[in-house]
Amino acid sequence: MTALTLSTAGPASLRADALVVGAAKGAKGVVLAPGAEAVDEAFDGRLAAVLEALGATGGDGELTKVPAPAGLKVPVVLAVGLGSAPEEDGSWDEDVLRRAAGTAARALTGSKKAGFALPLEDASAVTAVAEGALLGAYAFTAYQGGAKGAKDKGAAKQPLAEVALLGAKPRDKAHKAAAERAKVVAREVNIARDLVNTPPNDLTPEAFAAVASATAKEIGVKVQVLDEKALVKGGYGGILGVGAGSVNPPRLVKIAYTHPKAEKHLAFVGKGITYDSGGISLKPAGHNETMKCDMAGAAAVFASVVAVARMGLPVNVTGWLALAENMPSGNATRPGDVLRMYNGKTVEVLNTDAEGRLVLGDALTRASEEEPDAIVDVATLTGAMVMALGNRTFGVMANDDAFRTSIHEIAEEVGEASWPMPLPADLRKGLDSPTADLANMGERMGGGLVAGVFLQEFVTEGITWAHLDIAGPAFHEGAPYGYTPKGGTGSAVRTLVRLAERTATGDLG
Ligand code: BES
Ligand code: MN
Ligand code: ZN
Repeated sequence: MTALTLSTAGPASLRADALVVGAAKGAKGVVLAPGAEAVDEAFDGRLAAVLEALGATGGDGELTKVPAPAGLKVPVVLAVGLGSAPEEDGSWDEDVLRRAAGTAARALTGSKKAGFALPLEDASAVTAVAEGALLGAYAFTAYQGGAKGAKDKGAAKQPLAEVALLGAKPRDKAHKAAAERAKVVAREVNIARDLVNTPPNDLTPEAFAAVASATAKEIGVKVQVLDEKALVKGGYGGILGVGAGSVNPPRLVKIAYTHPKAEKHLAFVGKGITYDSGGISLKPAGHNETMKCDMAGAAAVFASVVAVARMGLPVNVTGWLALAENMPSGNATRPGDVLRMYNGKTVEVLNTDAEGRLVLGDALTRASEEEPDAIVDVATLTGAMVMALGNRTFGVMANDDAFRTSIHEIAEEVGEASWPMPLPADLRKGLDSPTADLANMGERMGGGLVAGVFLQEFVTEGITWAHLDIAGPAFHEGAPYGYTPKGGTGSAVRTLVRLAERTATGDLG
């Protein structure tokens, strides 16, 4: 894992592989962002002019490399674009800083140490830059360099090993806390990414449950795993129905962090389909390798409970991981089968590819039993949500308007794109079944909302609940940008952690 230090060294005396500075769009061309002063001095005050001569504009996402002058103890300076400079009394946008630090860290893959001399006017800027750098310094190399006798196991692709934040104050309590928080959050986001990227032949429900158990034990958090026998005994018909076709049996994992001073209890519920083939309603061939990402909700839930525990927040958080593999076979659930869910309701399965709502239904009812103050489920639930909001924005639905607004605002605060979506009551009748209490598929139009309306049937009345459909942002197929790598993104972890922090301080807006 990439190390993070708050360095007291000035940029001119730091011995490293590179220095990172910010370049912004000024009224008359490139301007350097605060933090770059000493670096600019080493360039005799000409760094902005040099950058312009190299074609830089200071635009968001831009990266320019300049050989360092003799006065610096690094071979190269990286200027990252920060977009328009803020107004006189304004401050740098945190997500711009987070993205810029990520862009720089990615460009430094393979390097040992880099000094980040970006604008750090307060503790939240420290969090943003530290998070961005640590999230950008991510690579999934576990399956590379495996050739017999290979010595450099993916060595060329190892992420930047050390991030030195320059300009932060190592003795300032707020700065130190901000850096510590960033370390924990980034580490857990990266763990969620690892879980998503791990191929589905290795990350079976059992294997995922084993990872959760091992980590929980290591950090002193309670964990309980229901295996297929316990699921039968408990009447978890949804989870069992989805897992029925696979040789890798399903699991329901409960991971419970408690704090003696906690006044509130949150429950996080994650969709954990370790592979979604569609089941008997098999997905058409082509591009299905990305369906290993269908456990991203469970990964986000697991990672955020661990982050909250590592931070020691005074709030109780229970994570529920609904793990199953959706496969076709002679034992698989068929279209037409009726499942009896954990809450007793019967569901006619019209399409075995609408499996996420079945595993979540059981887990939502189970989570409700403990009467938490709120439940948030996270799921790569519908292609329809991707159609509606695109690849980078998750949808937020809830049975409580204020809670939905809070989650949307919290997501924005931590730099995760989301948008509020409704749960129209009229969509419920489309889920009527001639045979059972309801069907697992309804109207095609508004498919993401239909799924939300289905889930609502399994949340016990009176409990505040929100549903995050992360089908778009959970897995990034395009070229990396900012701090977002290819593959698993760790979507929703930062939002869940901040929700727990806000709940702990009683500051839910
Ligand atoms: N896991 C998929 C949804 C998905 C789509 C996740 C794209 C990530 C990217 C889900 O289980 C699914 O197959 N949903 C169906 C539901 C339909 C059959 C009602 C869908 O969206 O097509
Ligand atoms: Mn599916
Ligand atoms: Zn799915």
